[in-house]
Amino acid sequence: MLLRTFIPLALLAVLFAGPVGAVDLDKGKEINGTCAACHGEFGQGGKKGEYPRIAGQRVKYLENQLNSFRARTRLNIPMFPYTQERELSDDDIKDVAAYLAGVELPTRMPNFVGNEDALTRLLMVDKVMIIPRAEGDIENGGKIYQKQCVACHAKTGKGRGMFPMLVGQYTSYLKRQVGLYLKGDRPHDEEGVVGVLNGLKPAEIQDILAYLTALQEPQE
Ligand code: HEC
Ligand code: HEC
Repeated sequence: MLLRTFIPLALLAVLFAGPVGAVDLDKGKEINGTCAACHGEFGQGGKKGEYPRIAGQRVKYLENQLNSFRARTRLNIPMFPYTQERELSDDDIKDVAAYLAGVELPTRMPNFVGNEDALTRLLMVDKVMIIPRAEGDIENGGKIYQKQCVACHAKTGKGRGMFPMLVGQYTSYLKRQVGLYLKGDRPHDEEGVVGVLNGLKPAEIQDILAYLTALQEPQE
């Protein structure tokens, strides 16, 4: 008897929840309003990388990080209040991650056609994301990157699946993360201090960062 009333209810719940895995991009955009205070209106980050760029990042990676912040397996004190269950549900995480992953930031200054007003021009320029060239030996960085990082972060540096995009991210932010990984505060490819980053010298890491800033430029 109990089962009989139970099953139809469960079924109804599933039917009304809509298609499994559907994301609501409008909702994602709305949620991003609270993120914008730190990460910028277009997810372009700010304060020279104190706030990382989150636009155009891989959707799976964004979801994983938001879940880690919420669970406190990745410590991020400024963001903690925004990731608490009531603030950011599982659905919210999916929606905001999908929205942000779809935001494209150009790497060139826009060509104005001439009839834009000042505000439109300002917004167009605001969206342009050019990371200044970092110091280091680009050629050496490229060799190491293509050998040791490419399997996960991809040839283009744009990542794949759960592996984050590195290209187009603030150098200072990436450097800070490498520091956290090396200290074991954030797990990278392996637990502890046996991962790929631990086998590199500081100068080699700097060279990779330089290479990443060179990769960002459109190659024609
Ligand atoms: C009060 C400021 C603040 C707000 C608001 C905020 N963040 Fe953050 N966020 C940060 C800081 C600071 C970091 C970098 C932490 C670090 O250096 O490890 C960060 C990191 C992240 C990262 C990790 C990026 C990466 O490349 O690993 C993601 C994803 C992220 N935030 C998404 C969001 C989303 C989505 C929201 C809105 C729901 C949000 N943040 C709201 C401050 C904020
Ligand atoms: C076996 C796969 C793998 C390889 C190889 C790899 N990475 Fe990663 N990398 C990851 C994963 C997974 C993450 C995200 C970890 C997490 O969830 O915090 C990451 C994150 C990063 C981040 C932080 C990105 C962010 O937005 O916070 C940096 C920086 C980074 N990797 C640099 C490198 C460099 C440099 C190399 C080559 C020397 C490299 N990785 C090789 C898997 C890999």
